[in-house]
Amino acid sequence: MLVIKDIPSNTRKYSVINDNIRMGDMQQRKKKLLSLLPVFRIVMNISRDKILELEKKAGTLEPNAEERKLVRDKVVAYAERFINEIEDEKAFNITEDMGMGIYDFPIVEEQLDIDTVLEVFRENVEKPGLNPASGGHLAYIPGGGIYYSSLGDYIAAITNRYAGVFYPSPGAVRMTNMLIKWMANLIGYPADTAGNLSSGGSIANLTAIVTARDAKGLQGADYQKCVIYTTKQAHHCVDKALNIAGLAEAIRRFIPMDAGHRMIPEKLEQQINNDRKSGLIPWLIVAAAGTTDVGAVDPLEEIGHISKKHDLWFHIDGAYGAFFVMTEKGKRLLKGIELSDSIVMDPHKSLFLPYGLGVLLVKEARHLQHTHRYSANYLQDVIEAEDELSPANISPELTKHFRALRLWLPLKLCGTAPFVACLEEKLLLANYFYAKIAEIPGFETGGEPELSVVTFRYVPASGDANSFNKRLLLEILRDGRIFLSSTDLEGVFTLRLAVLAFRSHLRTIDGALEIITQKTDELLNANS
Ligand SMILES: Cc1ncc(COP(=O)(O)O)c(C=O)c1O
Repeated sequence: MLVIKDIPSNTRKYSVINDNIRMGDMQQRKKKLLSLLPVFRIVMNISRDKILELEKKAGTLEPNAEERKLVRDKVVAYAERFINEIEDEKAFNITEDMGMGIYDFPIVEEQLDIDTVLEVFRENVEKPGLNPASGGHLAYIPGGGIYYSSLGDYIAAITNRYAGVFYPSPGAVRMTNMLIKWMANLIGYPADTAGNLSSGGSIANLTAIVTARDAKGLQGADYQKCVIYTTKQAHHCVDKALNIAGLAEAIRRFIPMDAGHRMIPEKLEQQINNDRKSGLIPWLIVAAAGTTDVGAVDPLEEIGHISKKHDLWFHIDGAYGAFFVMTEKGKRLLKGIELSDSIVMDPHKSLFLPYGLGVLLVKEARHLQHTHRYSANYLQDVIEAEDELSPANISPELTKHFRALRLWLPLKLCGTAPFVACLEEKLLLANYFYAKIAEIPGFETGGEPELSVVTFRYVPASGDANSFNKRLLLEILRDGRIFLSSTDLEGVFTLRLAVLAFRSHLRTIDGALEIITQKTDELLNANS
């Protein structure tokens, strides 16, 4: 009974019991006690030996120093071999069973030794498919996976700091917020900007969209009338986010683009005016700071002014391109980025981190809080810090990986200078490839790369260019030394080379030019 009395009366579940007992007559008390009897019986029957036996059985979960060393040394040796051999390994590997062997080792009660485990991993996970850690990864939007970041993840997992709320983990939350402030400063956002470290760009964009929805006071009845302005170049995760946010019926306007695949601001303004006149609700502009397809940057400054004039939420998807603001070229190109209300930027792309870190910044913290702040009875003793925002109050997640450490550690161990150099190197490598491929007879290119994506294709003297380039891509992938991808630009099958992996260097691009030329010649010879 004492135990029950001690439970705080404002804890809903128990207060019912409490009230009943206080109110109840003797009869009720007796009934209550009787109902608790089976619980006491169970407690009496529990044997200490059994508990100790279970502790022993679970002991493998807490290896001793010697056991830790044995496994750690093997894991480190594996990682060292992987990194040391990476230059000679393929970027893309088509194996016979494409990892099916993983199913030969089902999840069972018994343990496996570390040698077997690493071998199973190597054969079935490391070998088949794309090696995103390779400098030869020149497709989609690469990144790489810098080493110090992996050590950040290691410490984060070992210390298992809870990075969701200030009260249990003030240091982890301060570190998170310090990184947010650093990125806000890069963009030109104010110091009190709020932000969230998410798993990647898609979730960051989703969080931005629900925040924009609530910030502009959209209600269910408005969903069919509210309008989103973007271009056909917008990443599909924006469309996906709208659907997830319940806004599937919202009207999408794809604003015409110029020859460089950039939104035309005049067309945007025209469309907003027309929509307003028609009784629709112009709500959100999603501009790109680096499109996935071609790396185009929309005219952010002009779009920013239009959004202010017409009172729309201005969101920038800079998942790929926003960190280029750290370079001189990027600063010029991304002028006006600070006019946005929110922006996504992905360290697992253009800060070269291993997969698992996207960032959303929202200029006015209150909007992120408005959408995401909740409380629960069991969190009643959480003390809020006046000066720190808790990630759980400004994002969909409560418990999360301590993501800050994977960014903070490399920034501390390297400083920002090598990141800037690496970004500048990628910009120049893209320009270098663009110039070189254009010199090879038969190849045509898209526009000069704004960031680090180059589009190109071979135009054969006769025959269908689309099918030739499809076959060319297939041959390049079969070879596997580099990994390229393609896109469809206005019905034209176009090859693309995206330079962003931190291990892509001049020798990689020279190698890529050689492979592309070689495979083109082979195809032409086979056809003749
Ligand atoms: C411009 C852009 N936005 C958003 C995303 C989605 O990011 P993520 O894959 O991290 O979810 C990508 C992915 O490549 C992208 O390039």
